[in-house]
Amino acid sequence: MKHVKQIRLLPIVLLCILVGFIALQFFNAPIEQRPVTGPMKNVPKEVTRILERSCYDCHSNAQHLTFLDKLAPISWIVNKDIRRAQEVMNFSEWDKLSDAEQKGKFYAIFNMVRAERMPLPSYAMTHPGAKLSANEIETIKQFALSLSEKDSFIPAHTTISPMETGRNVETLTTSTQPEVPVSPNGISYNADFKNWKVIGMSTLIDNSIRVIYGNDIAVKAIQEENFHPWPNGSAVAKAVFKQAKKANGEIVPGDFVNMQYMVKDGKEYTETEGWGFAKFNGQELKPTGKTALFAQQSCISCHRQLAESTGYLFNVPPKVNSRKLIEQYLKTAQNEKNPIYTSIQ
Ligand code: HEC
Ligand code: HEC
Repeated sequence: MKHVKQIRLLPIVLLCILVGFIALQFFNAPIEQRPVTGPMKNVPKEVTRILERSCYDCHSNAQHLTFLDKLAPISWIVNKDIRRAQEVMNFSEWDKLSDAEQKGKFYAIFNMVRAERMPLPSYAMTHPGAKLSANEIETIKQFALSLSEKDSFIPAHTTISPMETGRNVETLTTSTQPEVPVSPNGISYNADFKNWKVIGMSTLIDNSIRVIYGNDIAVKAIQEENFHPWPNGSAVAKAVFKQAKKANGEIVPGDFVNMQYMVKDGKEYTETEGWGFAKFNGQELKPTGKTALFAQQSCISCHRQLAESTGYLFNVPPKVNSRKLIEQYLKTAQNEKNPIYTSIQ
């Protein structure tokens, strides 16, 4: 008896699901079509081909969605991802970004694909063709690195390296080599950052260009998302330049402004919550601060606000929302006429 009832119920249940499913489609607002206004230029074909196949469904105005993608309720998730993706980076409106921002985005792209965070894992699972091969990741890496400007504009301390310029070794006796500047808290200027990886770039503040480098430990921590807390020995450097405009309108790093460092050592820098700070200004690399207190009085106050979210760093790990975070931060700092606002540079 029971068995017979079940069999009769089944078609009714199925019908209900079907009707419900069809009804859902009435709540299915498709992605609004926007024109391609500024496609990528000066990007090699082999790179654009990868991005088109793997990323354009979300990060462009030219989607090629499958039937399933367009079906509610899947479409709700897909469309939400697309809207958000277009907001943070749109390859069809690429010319809205300055030259430096475009470069910065390519570092972010490389970091994202290397960490297998893009294309979004949920998308990659349902679109196996979108996955990148090791070769393709290498292609993107080579292109992102080729965008890295030569560091010719960084002061002499960094460019005079006996190991790099064999010809100069003769003249580089210890007496003629300038002393390495040291911050009042004991952190020395470290020219080695030139061999570190560029992990970010920002052009958001005061018409400057900021290039951010990470040493191997920091880069590994980013890859493994292991930054709560950042491992001891992680070091991040930021080089700040004025923006200069070339004749063709391209924005490039101009005069060098300063170098800033954050070095992680939980035992050494207990007064500044495990991070050692140092800043060296101008061509002569004059250290910031009269005493070791400068970091407690200035640096840590801003960076502490990110203690929970990123472990004290603004641009690193390459946060998808770093732009918003920094802009929001600057707004409040300016509104409050925050006296330390100027020390951001
Ligand atoms: C299924 C949609 C989808 C696909 C496909 C996709 N992304 Fe994304 N991407 C997103 C979303 C959504 C975000 C924003 C994440 C957030 O807000 O946390 C994002 C953020 C990013 C960011 C951060 C941008 C920034 O500057 O803040 C980068 C870089 C990125 N994606 C690169 C890629 C690359 C490269 C590919 C292709 C290999 C790709 N994405 C494919 C949805 C997608
Ligand atoms: C007024 C707030 C403020 C103060 C004070 C401040 N910073 Fe920052 N710092 C920022 C912001 C915002 C960024 C991200 C924007 C950028 O790249 O410049 C940043 C970025 C950095 C970075 C690159 C890594 C990262 O977090 O993205 C380093 C290194 C750094 N600061 C070092 C220092 C040092 C050293 C001092 C003290 C001499 C200092 N900061 C003081 C706000 C501040």
